[in-house]
Amino acid sequence: MNYNLLNGKRGIIFGALNDLSIAWKVAEKAVAEGAKITLTNTPVAVRMGEVAQLGEKLQSEVIPADATNLEDLEMLFNKSVEILGGKIDFVLHSIGMSPNVRKKRPYDDLDYDLLNKTMDISAISFHKMIQTAKKLDAISEGGSIIALSYVAAQRTLFGYNDMADAKAMLESIARSFGYIYGREKNVRINTISQSPTMTTAGSGIKGMDKLMDFANRMSPLGNADAEECADYCIVMFSDLTRKVTMQNLYHDGGFSSMGMSLRAMDQYNKSFDQYRDENGNIIYG
Ligand SMILES: NC(=O)c1ccc[n+]([C@@H]2O[C@H](COP(=O)([O-])OP(=O)(O)OC[C@H]3O[C@@H](n4cnc5c(N)ncnc54)[C@H](O)[C@@H]3O)[C@@H](O)[C@H]2O)c1
Repeated sequence: MNYNLLNGKRGIIFGALNDLSIAWKVAEKAVAEGAKITLTNTPVAVRMGEVAQLGEKLQSEVIPADATNLEDLEMLFNKSVEILGGKIDFVLHSIGMSPNVRKKRPYDDLDYDLLNKTMDISAISFHKMIQTAKKLDAISEGGSIIALSYVAAQRTLFGYNDMADAKAMLESIARSFGYIYGREKNVRINTISQSPTMTTAGSGIKGMDKLMDFANRMSPLGNADAEECADYCIVMFSDLTRKVTMQNLYHDGGFSSMGMSLRAMDQYNKSFDQYRDENGNIIYG
């Protein structure tokens, strides 16, 4: 169902790689809700991925840009304002990558050059994007900027590695810049902390399928999928959330507030079966 929530608005969507990408779903819904958008990803991702097909389908220009490169970002905002015919009303940062995770470097044996890359791509790019937009005065009054985060910013989860540090920084940038951009231009900046989702980036996390199953059993509403995440992004881009800023907004079926659910406890207890004695008591140690 469409509500025309973004009628007449202009947006830039970073990070659609293929139809599993959260950004892909956000782009589709933004256009369905009446927005005009440009799509962007790294030159390599534009060549190798499927974003060009999305551009064709949505009649949206695809502008290759590396989100860690200030010149690329300046070109992207200038071109988008020109193509869309005015200042930008909403921006989605849907970018994450850890070369340490890719190279299977564990958290207690990180390569620090790779850590710098993780931080630059997954967190500092958010600052670079906002700073570039502000200097160019490319975002309209009351605009909305969203980045996607994960609960590993607050809690330690097996296998998330240096991406946890990147997400903590990403959420902090939303607060620090949210104050300045809000005060000066009424621009909102928030992060949405999404359930584990099976995408290209998501499948890089060690034990992702088990993590998704655990989170699903733990959350009273179950895991949120990419489509549902896109719905939340649309509401946050719309005029219905004009006074929401500097927040990390959990979109995780309740996971972040849970300690233990019956379903998760049940499953957890089953794992002890092989450690029970003949009377059914758990053998500890
Ligand atoms: N999948 C999950 O479980 C999950 C959960 C919570 C949050 N998130 C976050 O959602 C966001 C989107 O990820 P996704 O799951 O849709 O995966 P995805 O792999 O589809 O998207 C990641 C995107 O980042 C882009 N990217 C990488 N380096 C870049 C750079 N230098 N400049 C510009 N773009 C670059 C990739 O090309 C890709 O399009 C990420 O921030 C991710 O951390 C994902």
